Amino acid sequence: MSRSTFLPFSRPSLGEEEIREVTEVLRSGWITTGPRTAAFEKAFAARLGVPYALGVNSATAGLHLSLVALGVGPGDEVVTTPMTFAATVNAILFTGATPVLADIDPATLNLDPGAAERACTPRTKAIVPVHFAGLPVDLDAFRDLAKHTGAALVEDCAHALGASYKGEPVGQNPAPLGVFSFHPTKNITTGEGGMVVTGDEDLGERVSVLRQHGMSKGAWNRYAEAGTPQYEVIMLGFKDNMLDLQAAIGLHQLDKLDRFQGRREEIAARYDEAFRGQRGILPLGSPSYEHVHGRHLYCPLVDVDALGFDRDTFMARLKERNIGTALHYKAVHLHRYYRERFGWAREDFPQAARVSDRLVSLPLFPDMTDRDVEDVVEAVREVCAAPEAR
Ligand SMILES: Cc1ncc(COP(=O)(O)O)c(C=O)c1O
Repeated sequence: MSRSTFLPFSRPSLGEEEIREVTEVLRSGWITTGPRTAAFEKAFAARLGVPYALGVNSATAGLHLSLVALGVGPGDEVVTTPMTFAATVNAILFTGATPVLADIDPATLNLDPGAAERACTPRTKAIVPVHFAGLPVDLDAFRDLAKHTGAALVEDCAHALGASYKGEPVGQNPAPLGVFSFHPTKNITTGEGGMVVTGDEDLGERVSVLRQHGMSKGAWNRYAEAGTPQYEVIMLGFKDNMLDLQAAIGLHQLDKLDRFQGRREEIAARYDEAFRGQRGILPLGSPSYEHVHGRHLYCPLVDVDALGFDRDTFMARLKERNIGTALHYKAVHLHRYYRERFGWAREDFPQAARVSDRLVSLPLFPDMTDRDVEDVVEAVREVCAAPEAR
């Protein structure tokens, strides 16, 4: 029997701690970038073990600022994956550079380092791999590629908080930049927000200045009691700073990260067990290198050939049973805007195109109860057992 209430694909886990801290910020007289942003940056950097963490308004902004800080612009090429959110490619386009797609490894959905290498040219200024769903890319391969092409690596870590690669937390040692997202569906949230991480002091400083109009000093250092009002614009910057209102949420979310990750891991393990051998569901593969999956998404492929109906029908049937799903992602090269602008065809990136028609993200968030998880399992089994699926 279907559940009586709708289970969304994701819901942020927010408690009294976040509510209290946001209320204190509202009452404090200082709601934009200030001491809480600084505290959140410090805590985030310490958690990852990375020297510099810069709070920004979104990961989209963070990716853009990272590329600008590296000097990426018109005439440059940036290699990335077609299996990502539009933000990754848009951030490249905002700089005036040309995005160059390379196909994915169909087992993991991560950018294939070999394909990325073949896509590199003397104009390649940066490579932007995405740790898809929280599964770390083969960082050693990408670091080698960056070294021998001279391109910078900007890791899109939007999904990867809590993940690690060969014992190293993702984002600890970016070459030279990594960007996390705190959008409400992500492993921790600040409403909207992001964090740029780097071990390079100059790049960190550039991102910091670029996020606030290119000014030598942020507002906290101008208006606060100890600050001085004078400042100078030293480069063309943007308006991408994180607010203390956002950081107030982030500080408590970060404290809860281990608990969140533990619950995500439990839910993913239950799905793995329940769907092992399930006709109609194709699990993703796991790479041979040592890693910890960030468990941002649980997104198997729907075996449309075995079921005899398409992925969208599969999603609609789960919805009839009050189970929400999401689509991460329709491959970049299949969207009209990019298709028309770059002339990309479906078969240019066949692996991404194939999975794009089959992927489904099932509910996965820390506040799911065991009953919620079993409701998803039962609904998936029912949909896979429908008469036309036999
Ligand atoms: C892979 C990837 N990169 C970048 C972004 C952009 O993140 P934000 O929403 O914080 O701008 C997202 C957001 O969903 C994402 O999934």
